[in-house]
Amino acid sequence: MSGGRPDRGERLADSAATEALGARLARLVRPGDLILLEGPLGAGKTTLVRGLVAALGGDPLEVCSPTFVLLESYAVRGEGIARVHHADLYRLRGRGSAPLDEVGLGDALDDPAAVTAVEWPDSWGWLGGMAGRVCRVALAYLGAARTATVVWTGPTA
Ligand SMILES: Nc1ncnc2c1ncn2[C@@H]1O[C@H](COP(=O)(O)OP(=O)(O)O)[C@@H](O)[C@H]1O
Ligand SMILES: [Mg+2]
Repeated sequence: MSGGRPDRGERLADSAATEALGARLARLVRPGDLILLEGPLGAGKTTLVRGLVAALGGDPLEVCSPTFVLLESYAVRGEGIARVHHADLYRLRGRGSAPLDEVGLGDALDDPAAVTAVEWPDSWGWLGGMAGRVCRVALAYLGAARTATVVWTGPTA
């Protein structure tokens, strides 16, 4: 992936720009897509999901970092997309093949009427090898602003 070069990424001047990137992704996502959000604490991963959910017709106020609840689901009104599942695997880092069922991520990924966004997918390498479409967003700090690189993999049809 190309996320290792944040200097080459798109500049996001403020959190509104990060939300706008989420809104742009909302126009591209299809049911079953997986969005992997990489980047350090505070890089804007949750902010991007907020923009995505809002643009899909959901309530952006529902979107916060699911720190205690590892997985949240928001109702949206996208084309064929009734839900956005939102996982934050931060607390599961380093747990190897950590218990997916504990998180409910397996069910989320099986949901044909949903898009799933995952923060801290890093230690879950298999997520990137999903059969469906995967969108990797790498967010990084650039002074007080952020940068983003977006790479899609998987079926293009
Ligand atoms: N492009 C940006 N420039 C400056 N601040 C941003 C930007 N995007 C998001 N933020 C801010 O950074 C903080 C952390 O964002 P958050 O989405 O919670 O990060 P993460 O989920 O990656 O930990 C929030 O206060 C948010 O408003
Ligand atoms: Mg977050």
